[in-house]
Amino acid sequence: MAPKPSKRSISFAFFVIVCLHLCSCYGKVSANNDPKIRGMFVFGSSLVDNGNNNFLPNSLAKANYFPYGVDFPHGSTGRFTNGKNVVDLLGELLKLPTFIPPFADPTTKGRRILYGVNYASGASGILDETGAIAGQVFSLNKQIENFENVTLPEFGNGEDFRKSLAHYLFVVGTGGNDYTFNYFLSRDKDSSNVSLEAFTTKLTTTLSRQLKRLYNLGARKFVLMSVNPNGCTPMARTMIPMHERCIQSVNRAIHLFNTNLKAMVDEIQLELPASKLVYVNSYKIVRDIIKEPSSKGFEDAKNACCKVPSIEEGGTGTLCKRGGSICSNRRSNVFFDGLHPTETVNAIIANKAYYSNSRAEVYPMNIKQLSQI
Ligand SMILES: *[C@@H]1O[C@H](CO)[C@@H](O)[C@H](O)[C@H]1NC(C)=O
Ligand SMILES: *[C@@H]1O[C@H](CO)[C@@H](O)[C@H](O)[C@H]1NC(C)=O
Repeated sequence: MAPKPSKRSISFAFFVIVCLHLCSCYGKVSANNDPKIRGMFVFGSSLVDNGNNNFLPNSLAKANYFPYGVDFPHGSTGRFTNGKNVVDLLGELLKLPTFIPPFADPTTKGRRILYGVNYASGASGILDETGAIAGQVFSLNKQIENFENVTLPEFGNGEDFRKSLAHYLFVVGTGGNDYTFNYFLSRDKDSSNVSLEAFTTKLTTTLSRQLKRLYNLGARKFVLMSVNPNGCTPMARTMIPMHERCIQSVNRAIHLFNTNLKAMVDEIQLELPASKLVYVNSYKIVRDIIKEPSSKGFEDAKNACCKVPSIEEGGTGTLCKRGGSICSNRRSNVFFDGLHPTETVNAIIANKAYYSNSRAEVYPMNIKQLSQI
């Protein structure tokens, strides 16, 4: 029989445990006192919207109902997926203590904006006119104005704060809707004649101006998300018999945009002193999954996980049916609704964005490296 531990050895063990606990907490606090990245300001469309459209009464692009958020700790928040989106997962990798709050929520003020603000809006695009089909959006220009007119004055426009903006990531994920809900829509209706090249140039020159505006307001570190291969979404496939193939014309257009976006990284870095940009090739990351889903652990790369009513059925062809049925294993589906990936895919994108050493996936460095310079 083992000897009974004496009172003294018990209190010593207790002391050691308390000390270890305090030391580890102390270590964490001091590490957080000077983190390289303090938070994120997020701009873009539904792939990164975390609830802003909930506050737009005339928006048709809302995801604040079941089954959206079925796997999210706070339920249906307006995120367009079953769980966390790419920005939530990036925040976790950066060890930010909270989710970034949506701008339009009236409680997003005071201490709640310390780690940044998310301005993104589902169905919005780079151009002001994109998204008109969805009733009401915050366009990218409006999102930047909200940062400038509302958030910056709240932080206090002092020089110190301007400098501290260099410690925030400015994440921009937009452009897909300018094709889906603008270029291809008006071309189908024959109301526009503009060439794909001219339209794409208009998008990238506009975006470049918008990024420079953020830079002039103090932004230094940018993360540019590419547009996903939207020609391969369940929504796009419904336009093709048997839903077997991707719509190549859509993917070609997006590929052209992404190529210009990547080139913009080098151009802007040359032009704007001390700016650092990272291009995340989510197009390639998602395309690689869709090409060989089973080798990446997915069973279904073609169908939406939730029930998506078509336009004939009174739906949008994109969003989940309110209270509708969902697939039982969300982990095995690439798409949650007609357009947006599941949390599992978002996690693959976020992890590669943060850690990948492949220049074809993150250019010219990964976000971990960006956060340390
Ligand atoms: C921001 O301020 C400018 C100048 O005062 C104004 O024209 C613009 O409408 C404001 N934008 C928003 C979104 O409040
Ligand atoms: C479209 O382009 C063609 C040839 O470039 C031109 O003749 C025609 O007027 C244009 N249509 C519209 C609606 O702009």
